[in-house]
Amino acid sequence: MTIDPSAALEQRLTDALRAAFGDALPEGASPLLTPAKSTQFGDFQANAAMALGKALGMPPREVAQKIVAAAKVDDIAHPMEIAGPGFINIRLRDAVLAAACDAMDTEALGIDAPQAPRTVVVDLCGVNLAKQMHVGHLRATVIGDAIARLHERLGHRVVRQNHFGDWGLPIAMVTDAVLRAEKAGRIDLATLTLDGLERVYREAQSASAADRAGLAAVKRFGLGPKALAECEEQVLGAMESQQESKTALLRLQGGDKDYQRVWDRISRITLDACFENCRRLHARVDDSATAGESTYRDELADVIRDLESRGVAEASEGALIVRLDELGIKEPLLVRKSDGGFLYATTDLAGIRRRVGKIGADLVVYAVDARQSLHFRQVFAAAKKAGYARTKSGTDAELVHAAFGTVLGEDNRPFKTRSGDNVKLADLLDEAVERAAKAVAEKNPDLSDADRATIAEAIGIGAIKYTDLSSDRLRDYVFSFDRMLAFEGNTGPYLQYALVRILSIFRKAEERFGVRWDDLNGDLRVQTPEEKAIALTLLRYPTTVRSAAETAEPHRLCAYLFDLATAFSAFFAACPVLQAEDEAERASRLRLCRLTGRTLRDGLETLGLIPLERM
Ligand code: ARG
Repeated sequence: MTIDPSAALEQRLTDALRAAFGDALPEGASPLLTPAKSTQFGDFQANAAMALGKALGMPPREVAQKIVAAAKVDDIAHPMEIAGPGFINIRLRDAVLAAACDAMDTEALGIDAPQAPRTVVVDLCGVNLAKQMHVGHLRATVIGDAIARLHERLGHRVVRQNHFGDWGLPIAMVTDAVLRAEKAGRIDLATLTLDGLERVYREAQSASAADRAGLAAVKRFGLGPKALAECEEQVLGAMESQQESKTALLRLQGGDKDYQRVWDRISRITLDACFENCRRLHARVDDSATAGESTYRDELADVIRDLESRGVAEASEGALIVRLDELGIKEPLLVRKSDGGFLYATTDLAGIRRRVGKIGADLVVYAVDARQSLHFRQVFAAAKKAGYARTKSGTDAELVHAAFGTVLGEDNRPFKTRSGDNVKLADLLDEAVERAAKAVAEKNPDLSDADRATIAEAIGIGAIKYTDLSSDRLRDYVFSFDRMLAFEGNTGPYLQYALVRILSIFRKAEERFGVRWDDLNGDLRVQTPEEKAIALTLLRYPTTVRSAAETAEPHRLCAYLFDLATAFSAFFAACPVLQAEDEAERASRLRLCRLTGRTLRDGLETLGLIPLERM
């Protein structure tokens, strides 16, 4: 059962099309139902008549008349009106809206458990060993976590996978460098921080005068961060004698005791710092959600053997590739280098095999930078060609790259510090919280220090997350503390504040009338235009959550919550609640307030934002 009366309307009108035109109806014809442009015309309009008129060779107004005559909607809508060339204007009955809101007013909020829950794997975070999280990881973490929460909210089984970059030549090199630094007494592994670790890494990199021509080319042609990383790896490789880096890799791969000990420790240091950021970000990423590249190390040779023996991969100039032309991709996927080394892509193929085959994924969503688009198109195509995406039911799992754009500084260039370094995520979070604390202290000077700290943390982090989630994820956006921390406009604090306002109405209602959130009596009625507007908005919640999950676009839910908060403001300004005419009206409006509050809270949590009681 769906709560949204527009779904019922859509169905009735679809039936009407069939009844009116029978076999003459073009395939796939739909009523083209949309919300009305202006409330003066009604709540919805059906725009099918124009296109159908063309297809049927009939004046659109006549088409509209036939649809109206055939439609059985009396129980849910007022008589429909035809306007202009053939628009059908529809006004729902108030009682229908009231009944639908009443049905929605439970903890489920109209989102029923799915008949067949799916298993959804979400690839998120994706930090790299010995490196700090920066703004790019912010996006991979926050967007990935929101997508995971959306599917959880719908009742699906969700498995988060942090594809931690903890294996391969560069990692062997860091391990080697740290081991040397330790032996030279320059560092103490027990007290080493991620900052210190990153320094050792950089020193090792710059200690060489390696040929950087390849690197320069990658930068010049903008071949993307992955190519950059792989070239940096080459440069890194060239730094030490070829032999030395190979030795380091062999020692790491071979499980050399010293290497293993150092690698364990530096993995831990990196992950602890990462998890601390994730905890602050209210994103569920921990050890249980982490499956690093190293966890695939014993599966790679097998993947290659399998691809080779079944003819999925073929030799090319000493390397091994999977051709994808037949799948519409010109660039073949390189799965083994001519020196025998495996690649990022090989691990991702093993990842799909494990996620679909072992974890049982029906859907795998990758929250990863848009600059890796080609990589994922290739990997997805190769995985399908190899049969690694095949589920138990015999169909292919859905593989989705939830790509995101770049975070820009106020100068419209990729967000960097003044010295040109990546901005450390932890610093960014600190600054947001500091600024939020100032704003909170100004707004509400009576708060205790402890309350202020908690509220500032929720607002500061929420502001960053909301900005990130609310813009269309493919687009770049400009990072601006002032804009994201504003208490007005489409911001996290504004939505948190909308909920706080509703809760404070209830505190007053309890004081004055003894009514409580948990036991509200009285019918929910929808009468004024503002009540109608908030009801129509509320009822869109279940479909919005569903479409945000399906498209992996959390910004749809953000936009919805902003609409809801705006509709609530208009309702609250126009319709007295605590000063309502009589008890029945007050009770009904309090129920609309509570339903809005429940929906806001649920929506904020579904996005991974922290709802507040006061601020
Ligand atoms: N560590 C990678 C990077 O920094 C991101 C990992 C994304 N996930 C994946 N399955 N490839 O670019």
